[in-house]
Amino acid sequence: MTHVVTEACIRCKYTDCVAVCPVECFHEGPDFIVIDPAACIDCGVCIPECPVEAIVEAKDLAPDQAEYLDLNARLAARWPLITQSRDPLPDADAWATRHDKRQLLSENPEPTLTGVPG
Ligand code: F3S
Repeated sequence: MTHVVTEACIRCKYTDCVAVCPVECFHEGPDFIVIDPAACIDCGVCIPECPVEAIVEAKDLAPDQAEYLDLNARLAARWPLITQSRDPLPDADAWATRHDKRQLLSENPEPTLTGVPG
């Protein structure tokens, strides 16, 4: 079992989760963070740290978030490790309440951020 970062993180990336992880299991993309399931020890300390409640145990994934299990594993293998928290993305607070962000997730290493949600 593992923990999974879900859609709420997209374009927010507050990174409070990274600061508390005891095993360095987070990997960072341009507008999203993922957990490496091979590194996660299921301690759960990251769950209450996320301001947008983006992190859940795999067994608790909502049906509409199911794809994030494989997405975390796949992107963790491609994206670099992040071991320290940093400032959230510039428009994080504006994106925090959005629920239709999946199509905005960029798998490319270069940032593609544009604008604030309308
Ligand atoms: Fe994302 Fe929440 Fe961590 S927004 S970077 S999962 S604190």
